[in-house]
Amino acid sequence: MTELIVALDVDSIAEEEHLLKTLHGTVSFFKIGLRLFTAHGKRSVELVQRLGGKVFLDLKFHDIPQTVNHAVHEAQKMGVFSVSLHLSGGAAMLRAAAEVHPRPKLWGVSVLTSLTSADLHALHPNASVLLMARRLARMGLDNKVDGIICSGEDVPVLRKALGAETLFIAPGIRQSGEPLHDQKRHITPADAARLGIRYAVVGRPITKAPDPQAAARTILSEMRNAA
Ligand code: C5P
Repeated sequence: MTELIVALDVDSIAEEEHLLKTLHGTVSFFKIGLRLFTAHGKRSVELVQRLGGKVFLDLKFHDIPQTVNHAVHEAQKMGVFSVSLHLSGGAAMLRAAAEVHPRPKLWGVSVLTSLTSADLHALHPNASVLLMARRLARMGLDNKVDGIICSGEDVPVLRKALGAETLFIAPGIRQSGEPLHDQKRHITPADAARLGIRYAVVGRPITKAPDPQAAARTILSEMRNAA
C-alpha cells in the first residue's frame, strides 16, 4: 500500500499547526524540510509528534562520515521515523549513518530533480541522470540504505535494475489536470499506487488547496482505488 506523506513546506509554526490540525485523522506522515527545520528546529518536529504524526526529516545529510553518524543519532533522539541523505556522500558516509542503532529509516537521494543530464555533463562527461541515479541507488542499497527517493517516472527502470523488493519514495505527484508548479516530472496518485511506490510525498496540491483535508482524501482514494 502507498502511504501519503504531506510535505510541510511552510515557514511558521502557526501554519504548520493549522495544517496538522486540518489533516489530523486523515494523514499520518509529514515531511519537515530545510525551511521549516532551519526556522524552528525541534519544535517543528515535536509539534507533529504531539498531534500523533510521524516525521520524515528531509535535511538531505551530506558530510564526512562521523558528522553524518552524529546527525542520524540526534535525529533518532528526536524520534523521527526517517531521514534523508545524499547517496553521493559515498559508501563510507552511508555505512556510518547505518551504524546508528536503533536508528530512523535512511532514505537516499540519488540525483536532485532540479539537475539535468546537461548539469551532470559539466562534472562527468557521458553521465546521464538515470545512469547516475542507478549507480548511486545500487551503492545505497549495498550500504544499508532503506529506501530510494526518486522521480516516480524512474521507478520502473530502477526497480528492474535494483530488484523487485526495493522501497521507493517519490515526490512530484499530481492528479491529472492539476497545476504542476515547478514539478517537471510527475506521476498521478494512481500511478504511484500501480508502481508500488511505498511513500508518495505531496506538498502544494494539499497544503495550498482551499480545503487541504478534502484534497488529501481525494489523493488517498485515488491511490486506494488503483492499488
Ligand atoms: O511539488 P510539491 O509541493 O508536491 O513538492 C513536494 C516535495 O517534492 C517538496 O517538499 C520537495 O522536497 C520535492 N520537490 C522536488 N522537486 C521539485 C519540487 C519539489 O523533488 N522541483
